[in-house]
Amino acid sequence: MSDRPRLLPLLGTPRHGSRDAMTCLYRCGNACDHPVPNTSDNAYFGDVVNAEVSRRGVVRAGAVGALVLGFSGAAAGALAGAAPAAAAPVPPVPPAGQPTAAGRRPGSGALSFKPIPPNTLDTFVVPNGYDQAVIIRWGDPVVPGAPEFNLRRQTAAAQAKQFGYNNDFVGVLPLDKGGKRALLVVNHEYTNEDLMFPGFTSQDALSVEQVKVAMAAHGMSVVEIERVGGTGQWRVVGSGRRPYNRRVDALSSKFELTGPAAGSSFLKTAADPKGRTVIGTLNNCAGGVTPWGTVLSGEENFNQYFVGGDAAPESEKARLARYGISTTARYPSGSRKWDRAAERFDLAKHPNEANRHGWIVEIDPFDPESRPRKHTALGRFKHEGANVIVARSGHVVAYMGDDERFDYLYKFVSDKKFMKGDSWVARKHNLTLLESGTLYVAKLDQTSAGEIDGSGTLPSDGAFNGKGRWIKLVSGNRSYVDGMTAAEVLTFTRFAGDKVGATKMDRPEDVEPSLLTGKVYVALTNNTNRGVGSNPAPDEANPRTANRHGQILELVEDRGDNTADSFRWSLPIVCGDPADPSTYFAGYDKTKVSPISCPDNVAFDATGNLWISTDGNALGSNDGLFATATEGPERGHLKQFLTVPVGAETCGPFITEDNRSLFVAVQHPGEITGATVDNPASTWPDGDYAKPGVVVTWRLDGGPVGS
Ligand code: FEO
Ligand code: CA
Ligand code: CA
Repeated sequence: MSDRPRLLPLLGTPRHGSRDAMTCLYRCGNACDHPVPNTSDNAYFGDVVNAEVSRRGVVRAGAVGALVLGFSGAAAGALAGAAPAAAAPVPPVPPAGQPTAAGRRPGSGALSFKPIPPNTLDTFVVPNGYDQAVIIRWGDPVVPGAPEFNLRRQTAAAQAKQFGYNNDFVGVLPLDKGGKRALLVVNHEYTNEDLMFPGFTSQDALSVEQVKVAMAAHGMSVVEIERVGGTGQWRVVGSGRRPYNRRVDALSSKFELTGPAAGSSFLKTAADPKGRTVIGTLNNCAGGVTPWGTVLSGEENFNQYFVGGDAAPESEKARLARYGISTTARYPSGSRKWDRAAERFDLAKHPNEANRHGWIVEIDPFDPESRPRKHTALGRFKHEGANVIVARSGHVVAYMGDDERFDYLYKFVSDKKFMKGDSWVARKHNLTLLESGTLYVAKLDQTSAGEIDGSGTLPSDGAFNGKGRWIKLVSGNRSYVDGMTAAEVLTFTRFAGDKVGATKMDRPEDVEPSLLTGKVYVALTNNTNRGVGSNPAPDEANPRTANRHGQILELVEDRGDNTADSFRWSLPIVCGDPADPSTYFAGYDKTKVSPISCPDNVAFDATGNLWISTDGNALGSNDGLFATATEGPERGHLKQFLTVPVGAETCGPFITEDNRSLFVAVQHPGEITGATVDNPASTWPDGDYAKPGVVVTWRLDGGPVGS
């Protein structure tokens, strides 16, 4: 069989945005086909009146033209190379785990790169003056001694030592103060068996060993990397001891439950009668690096891995349904049928097993022997991720989103305070910070309720904005929700949000505070059900009916205190083609901004610029990465920095402390209905068949990315 399969034409079946039906099937178990899990009648606003392309991108500017899409914004036609700005001084890399951004001013790093145009190229496109390289891809060795990848003879044992499938979150944690070595920590959200196994026909036809390969391809990787010379490029350390290199997976890795719900009756199973130890982590989506040098990872669409909900005890069915688990079919559409390989996925036999997933996982990459923990104090929902900031008081605050149509925004405030320094004592203390604290859910008030008609027209006061409150759900073992114990609130957090009238949002994805300003940015990716049929109507924070393109919400805590119980919010960006009157870019001249659709992951560079990646561009372009200032006159001047290959989603992103290296994960390249390993829709990155991989981008002159 040829190693260079023919390229499948782009005949995919778009569902929401440009997201292909195959992505819907594998990534979220066809969530859109299932009823909206939030059927609560909690009154959410009603009760408140109140190119030249990179050298390695291969494609030259002239060749790009035909595939450049026609948009009105700055990116359209922006093919001429922009001269790179002069290199700025490079700040030193701080030791792992220290809060950053000291001495930097927000907006001090102007984004002078020339935006790239929207396109549908099967390559990784960066602005002129930049280069990019794949650091690691699916199947590459992670654990020393890992066997070479063999596409046609995959085994679970080999995959458990190799880089997993569908990389999502990316974190880079320095190993030294010289900025030469680091640990790359990556989530592997889900698998696509069509694109992993040659000759795939159906989940039923997979061998049990292949099911176990898929389980081993989930989870996380920790990989030692090194800087290439003095540049912004990095590569995997390919030999030597590499003591930190590690895989955790959904097959056999053990996780410790911590916090008030650990050991509760909801978390006990036949295999774990104490309710404290879980095998596997599922659907790890986004995440964050903590100030003490660990990584948080969100277990997102965990529901799709469970079967037998129809035969679960009647008493559990409402709980399962609220989390998107079918209670009417043994094998709902999109089921992976992992019960064939592990009985624990069968809710008819082990109804509590689903309760042991949907948590925030914390892994300590600097202690390869440590058992990762699932922190019950941060609640259980479809966690996109979690991002931490140290408040002025020293308490740590984690911001989180529940990625489902009409679900909620949350924050957690620790009981204990962050201990500064990198002593052993400080680190040991800080590792306990997420085990006890207070969990809140957001309720947003609005200033222009009477003017929100679903069109996206800006209200007469000039802003989609309002005040908001953090409603306390649970603090330690004390519940603040009527009729629910603390363990219930934490394990069935969505019900707690329903009961207190939390605001139903348009799919909260990444929620991340800027370490420079303390302001929090929320990617609300889309919600085509908004205002449709009996679904909740548009409101000021979710202002468009059948919202295809999503919006960015900025949340400013009162008094600048991240532990506050009240805040102000606004929408700086309402996404879409800037020519569309329902879009908004903080009042910036819309002829100068790039079109953007379906914001997903957000990150900040060292000077506080906001970087936004997309998932499922509803404007027809490949997904990409965009950047804008959040303060000053350039606020809202959104520009497109890169695009990923055909069928892929832009994940990560992560910018190093010295601002010289930008990492993104290329997730599900070539994920187009009808594609297979032998008949791929994308041949990125190696020219044969599609493989998810992590890419680093850097400026050729060594300067800060974006500037
Ligand atoms: Fe896995 Fe919410 O994206
Ligand atoms: Ca308003
Ligand atoms: Ca995501």
